[in-house]
Amino acid sequence: MRIDVITIFPDYIAPLGLSLVGKAIDAGTIELRVHDLRAFTRDRHHTVDDTPYGGGPGMVMKPEPWGEALDQILGSDPIQARPRLVVPTPSGRPFTQSVAQEYAADDWLIFACGRYEGIDSRVVEHYRNSTTVDEVSVGDYVLAGGEAAVLVMVEAAARLLPGVLGNPVSVVDDSFAPGAMESLLEGPVYTKPPEWRGQQVPEILLSGDHGKIAAWRREQAVRRTAAMRPDLLE
Ligand code: ADE
Repeated sequence: MRIDVITIFPDYIAPLGLSLVGKAIDAGTIELRVHDLRAFTRDRHHTVDDTPYGGGPGMVMKPEPWGEALDQILGSDPIQARPRLVVPTPSGRPFTQSVAQEYAADDWLIFACGRYEGIDSRVVEHYRNSTTVDEVSVGDYVLAGGEAAVLVMVEAAARLLPGVLGNPVSVVDDSFAPGAMESLLEGPVYTKPPEWRGQQVPEILLSGDHGKIAAWRREQAVRRTAAMRPDLLE
């Protein structure tokens, strides 16, 4: 899978070189290209923003550098004609586990990280003509820019790619995994030692009775879901 990220803070994306995503990059499963938006400006000051038409607080990202950057990136691989252009924004559709699955099935994702009050809306409208554009939000809160959202989305999609996780069964068990009969949060987990600071690991987990363990885990998952996310149980 190819992933392009356009940002005014390329260093912000560096953590993708670590851990699971980093290994997928090293293995060639993911080809990551990070682009500095300022490299696509033409003025001496590398200006990427300007005041909003109609007034209001903050600044809006100018369309021209985005047009130059996206044209160059889209033109850089004529064989893979239709990438998905992902624009993180608090006014997008919610990013969920099923959106992560959609992304994991794509060959090519381009992430356009807005800052300030967002990107001039003509950019998204322009590229809708030639490619799939997906405006997505990672939650009902406002970040300072799309970069942190990109870290979230790339990690969520990358761990679903074949061969990226050590144990592929863990993906099937995920809370929120679509296709599961029900959406339950995962209950408590334990490892050695059997006693730690006066707390014992629940006896049943040491019993070796897989049927009872599965029933106990389900009950714990229902309890946790009722406590943390009653909306998922309805
Ligand atoms: N940019 C700013 N806030 C965001 C959010 N909640 N999700 C995605 N991108 C954002």
